[in-house]
Amino acid sequence: MSQKVLAFEKKTLTGNITVPGDKSISHRAVMFGSLAEGTTKITNFLAGEDCLSTIEAFQSMGVFIQREENTVLIESEGVNGLEEPVQPIDLGNSGTTARLLIGILAGLPYHFTLYGDDSLSKRPMDRIANPLREMGAKIDGRENGRLLPIAVRGGHLSPIDFKPPIKSAQIKSGVLLAGLLTDGVTTVEEKTKTRDHTENMLQAFGADIDVEGTTVKITGNKKLTGCDIEVPGDISSAAFFLVAAAITKGSHITIENVGLNPTRTGIIDVLKMMNVSIKVVAKRTIGGESIGDITVQASQPKATVIEGDIIPRIIDEIPVIALLATQATGQTVIKDAEELRFKETDRIESVVNTLSKLGATITGTKDGMIIEGNTQLHGGVTESYGDHRIGMMIAVASLLTDEKVELHDDECIAISYPTFFEDLHYLISN
Ligand code: S3P
Repeated sequence: MSQKVLAFEKKTLTGNITVPGDKSISHRAVMFGSLAEGTTKITNFLAGEDCLSTIEAFQSMGVFIQREENTVLIESEGVNGLEEPVQPIDLGNSGTTARLLIGILAGLPYHFTLYGDDSLSKRPMDRIANPLREMGAKIDGRENGRLLPIAVRGGHLSPIDFKPPIKSAQIKSGVLLAGLLTDGVTTVEEKTKTRDHTENMLQAFGADIDVEGTTVKITGNKKLTGCDIEVPGDISSAAFFLVAAAITKGSHITIENVGLNPTRTGIIDVLKMMNVSIKVVAKRTIGGESIGDITVQASQPKATVIEGDIIPRIIDEIPVIALLATQATGQTVIKDAEELRFKETDRIESVVNTLSKLGATITGTKDGMIIEGNTQLHGGVTESYGDHRIGMMIAVASLLTDEKVELHDDECIAISYPTFFEDLHYLISN
């Protein structure tokens, strides 16, 4: 396992950058391009490890996929051209590949075996397996079919009207993708809208999909046709530098061409709620996804209460929001975020342990955390626990102290942001 000593002399971030392509959109572009007939070209693809797992999964089903840096070319004969893979499919660390792929495989008349790394093997799969079983898929795995490795025998499904008990775009998407391969109308009715990239992109590929408020209906077995997808910058990656600039004296940065889909922009709302000086300029919309520039200036953040419907819109940003809260005036409370316990790590535990080690006063609760503000952080020995977002939170935290921060197991940052340290160095070198 590699490690890094983080001791940056200059801690002010200035300049303009772009961040790598959106992880959620990159996964979906490969999946839908593989299900579509013809050619799909993806530009600004996130060549992070999770999305590479998705590419390999479809290659193992016989789809021609060629990648050169951040451009991916897919030539597919469509759903009927997919083959039964000879070997088990390795999902690596990727929860999105797992949940969405299981939905697709449920609709294919073959047998599949799926496995992942230690972290993914602990993450619940019953949340997607249960509705798919209701549709008629045969899914079994460890702990009564709850955990990977999982075997799927798909085909011949019946549509369902599904009301997800958990706020999760992965579950919504997995069921919609099974619905895409099923005769009739499959409905997913959410309590709170989660990220809607599946709905937007399936429309671009020609699916028969209808969105009304928080209800999505898909009519199955409509042919998808390949198309070009330009992936916006990932706002979840941008979030680390937006917070870094907000909490380091003299900073002023712009992140260009970031995805501004409203189901993802909770971080902008939180920064505004916390009194951070932020400006957003929307520039264009491609395939239903808005893209623009975000500028943040160093500010004195103030504490707030974060709860309710905003949580799915900031679910991946909460670790770095917790760090921001350590610098705010007052006490910040985060509630309704029990889903954090089912991420790459239990992110309530890993955030609380890590920030405490660096001097924060932070307490975990059943569904969130309570963070005292105005804290002087200090150095220490930390680890990412194999969680990319914890690794990047630690790197940003290290900007708040003159002491050394050791970060063990930093490689996992490549899962979503392979060029994170290059971009950080660029912003502090200006
Ligand atoms: C994702 C949905 C979210 C998010 C994950 C990506 C997606 O997970 O945390 O990083 O691409 O659909 P949940 O659906 O489990 O909330």
